[in-house]
Amino acid sequence: MTGRAASVRPPDPPRRGVRIAGTGMLLPEDRITNADLEKLMETTDEWILQRTGIRERRRVNPAKGESCWTISAQALRGALADAKMDAADLDLVIVATVSTEQACPSTACRVAGEIGAGAAGAVDMNAACCGFVYATNVAHDLIRAGSYRNIGVVGCDTLSEVMDYSTEGRGTAILFGDAAGAAVLRATDDPSRGIIAQAMHSDGTSWRHLYIPRRARDFPAGAEGKKLGVMYMNGREVFKFAVTKFCDLIAQTLDRAGLTPDDVDHYVCHQSNARILESARERFGLPQEKLYVNIDRVGNTSSGSVPVCLHELRSAGRIREGQLVMLVAFGGGLTWASGLWRM
Ligand code: UT7
Repeated sequence: MTGRAASVRPPDPPRRGVRIAGTGMLLPEDRITNADLEKLMETTDEWILQRTGIRERRRVNPAKGESCWTISAQALRGALADAKMDAADLDLVIVATVSTEQACPSTACRVAGEIGAGAAGAVDMNAACCGFVYATNVAHDLIRAGSYRNIGVVGCDTLSEVMDYSTEGRGTAILFGDAAGAAVLRATDDPSRGIIAQAMHSDGTSWRHLYIPRRARDFPAGAEGKKLGVMYMNGREVFKFAVTKFCDLIAQTLDRAGLTPDDVDHYVCHQSNARILESARERFGLPQEKLYVNIDRVGNTSSGSVPVCLHELRSAGRIREGQLVMLVAFGGGLTWASGLWRM
């Protein structure tokens, strides 16, 4: 026989799927009701309810030792128990947060150490209210690519710590509460499971509409008299951005997946303001049971928002294997992101 042997290309490894094996959440016990806010600032229960749909929020209590990393660790422990896994099974821990206490170490390192995740990788991601959606998109692709098998993802913010609970800060402080939510993502041999379309976007030119200054140089022009360590939000501008981007993002994600709004079983959306959620529901003609709302009980919990909704839906048995679930969020940065999962 002459000539070269035909080159034989090794077969591609089987395409992996990714599943959400478990979820967990932690809401601090202490509550801030609208009546509590009426005592701190010039506002009314009626104004807050009508403009935001919020009745109460939770807040961490440092006197009880609660903080971003402690409630993150509790939420991730819950997700591991739900997945029937040990912390030592995790290859990587990602915490999505803007509430990290120290610049170093990361919240994720504190969480991994606390739960006993051994030498698992640990890293924080900051995409403000979109953090959990960004982090699950990235974790998903790391598993799909074959580099990791089990990743714990937490979304947690404790923004009560950066609110100005005086009349000056009332446009922002009425909105936010504290929460942690978590999910454990696992490799599966079923390649149909996992994200079928996703998007991650930002507009850094509009950062000044939502920011938390740490140093004098962090203030944008015209911010005289503002304080360090307080969150500032231009509510009207963020509202306009959110209403537009929220709907465009859902449309873009459906388009990428070749699906219509009716095909999706659940829209698990960042709970920013009940009016913003309602505008998306109306635009796509969604029945109420497809777009989960818990903002009345917990407020806007930033990175905690989407994973807490996800956990509440799963633990109520409303999200089932094989269903299509779209995670959608938008927030500071400005950022907006989605992930459409085949569960
Ligand atoms: O999660 C990150 C993304 N964030 C968001 O999606 C938040 C988007 N923005 C919002 O949800 C809304 O802008 C807010 C709920 C924050 C504010 O509602 P709004 O309808 O946009 O109110 P506004 O800021 O336009 O203020 C309207 C009026 C103002 O009075 P004047 O100037 O019309 O006399 C405010 O001073 O309401 C006043 N006001 C309040 N009154 C009573 C602002 N905050 C309060 C308050 N209580 N807490």
